[in-house]
Amino acid sequence: MARSARRTTPMPIPQLPNSDGGAPERRRLVQPAKIKALAALSLGVLILLLAGCASEHPLDSLTADAGPSSERITNLFWPILIVAIIILILVEGAIIYMIRRFKAQRRAEDSGTAMAGDPYDPDNPTELLVGEPLPPQTHGNLRLEIAWTIIPTIILAVIAGFTLVAIFDLEEVTASEDSLRVTVVGQQWWWEFQYHTDGNTDSPPDFVTAGELVIPVGQQVPLEITSRDVIHSYWIPQLIGKKDGVPGRYHDWLIEASRPGRYLGACTEFCGLAHGYMRMYTIALPATDWNDWAANQRQPVTPLNPGEVGYEGQELFLANCARCHSISGLTDTNGDDQTDDPSIYSGGDPVHDQLVAGAAPDLTHMMSRATFAGATYNLYEDRGEDVDYQDLAQLGEFNAAELENWISNAPGNKPGDWEAGRGMPPFPNLTNADVDALVEYLRTLT
Ligand code: CUA
Repeated sequence: MARSARRTTPMPIPQLPNSDGGAPERRRLVQPAKIKALAALSLGVLILLLAGCASEHPLDSLTADAGPSSERITNLFWPILIVAIIILILVEGAIIYMIRRFKAQRRAEDSGTAMAGDPYDPDNPTELLVGEPLPPQTHGNLRLEIAWTIIPTIILAVIAGFTLVAIFDLEEVTASEDSLRVTVVGQQWWWEFQYHTDGNTDSPPDFVTAGELVIPVGQQVPLEITSRDVIHSYWIPQLIGKKDGVPGRYHDWLIEASRPGRYLGACTEFCGLAHGYMRMYTIALPATDWNDWAANQRQPVTPLNPGEVGYEGQELFLANCARCHSISGLTDTNGDDQTDDPSIYSGGDPVHDQLVAGAAPDLTHMMSRATFAGATYNLYEDRGEDVDYQDLAQLGEFNAAELENWISNAPGNKPGDWEAGRGMPPFPNLTNADVDALVEYLRTLT
């Protein structure tokens, strides 16, 4: 029994040599300089914590409430956090109390003696404990041990109960079988979205986008999340929690936005060099706007003829970009959203075959997006946020500089490993005029 192990006899205290033999001098255990350093450190930590409460916080999940899922998660998170904070205060409070109440200096003061010397300095050791008996030494307290086992068990069981209910709620499908479904494909280092507007994910998608998932407000959209290469994780903090994209597997997830907006997300599974640049947006549009947007996305492009604006760029695109990038109506004519035969465009250089994942972002309606290169760069000035999303291609203030930079030297802008087929290669062969022509062509992809 633990109780029987209690020892109540005071232990003998070893005599410590008294170094100077004079009147003991009062010494503080904590030096003022240390207190100042501790205060400065605490202040720094506090400032960092408060910085997390900045007004511009697209990835903040503490106040996420833009969709039913995030609201559910937030409503679970806060009560648990509050319980955790109370426990933290109680436990840390008890520790601090015990340190103060039972520390040697206090006992010295209580017993009318004073401290001298340094407990860590053998040449000048403290004489504090000289002659003073230790308090009773106990080992084990059955009642206390049962209490501090049972109380946390109950607290954790209650939290687990609420959490399980929330997990099942998050997976409750309310969307009908034949409504919009999206296959989300992670790849080093961008996201692809394959839209199945009839809900049938076995047939080829109606259209494909990259970087930005566009959904109608107030409609639950089932997602199946996967990957072409390594494990990624899809996360839009304002809307939904994280779900891994694993090669060869399809993870069901549900996304819904309660109000229109552009919601930033980030890949949350370390996936290589440019993991930190693997961002994505979910854009929620009112249903009618979404229908207009989807009708446009569905349209294949019409190949340009000689003499038309952008024709030169189109030819450059076919010669340099089409081995990886697909454009429905130009490089993809059978509607499977894959470039028909990349070898046509590779010019004997099988770069496409060397691509680890075998695909690059579909650019069919590139200009209808607000970002490019894994949502790293803004296609329009000021993030295009002063323009309605579906009007970006018409009204947005085009950001030519970053796109031209990207086309001529992608690896210089976003880390990657293009020689190993990961990420976009540089194009040193393209002259400035070529890049201008390419951008002129890409601008026709509205
Ligand atoms: Cu993809 Cu990290």
